[in-house]
Amino acid sequence: MKTALTCLAAAAVLAAAPAWADDVLAKHKCTTCHDVAKKKMGPTWKEIAARASDADIRAALQKGVKGKYGKAAMPAQPKAVADADAIVKAIKALK
Ligand code: HEC
Repeated sequence: MKTALTCLAAAAVLAAAPAWADDVLAKHKCTTCHDVAKKKMGPTWKEIAARASDADIRAALQKGVKGKYGKAAMPAQPKAVADADAIVKAIKALK
């Protein structure tokens, strides 16, 4: 019984992670150009999580990024810089 409850709790935590991660990324409209697994104008979160360091993610918000994944460039996202900690966590959670 106790084991079953622990498993349920663990499943709930795992299922919840992408939801809150989506929130902070949707709030800043990152999801207009990025999706977890579907290629949009920008690379997928999975691809970014695999290739970008925490510092790369912060730099992309501050200065934008171009030439790393393809031809499209990402403009700087100054409004999102204040949420950089949550954004780094969110992208890593979507790996
Ligand atoms: C106008 C479309 C657009 C929007 C909006 C956008 N991005 Fe991007 N993003 C891109 C493109 C295109 C690239 C790939 C650039 C390249 O190839 O260098 C990219 C790349 C990235 C990278 C990879 C950086 C690296 O060095 O590997 C991160 C992290 C990222 N975006 C995060 C975000 C976050 C967080 C937001 C929301 C605050 C956001 N993006 C909003 C288009 C966008």
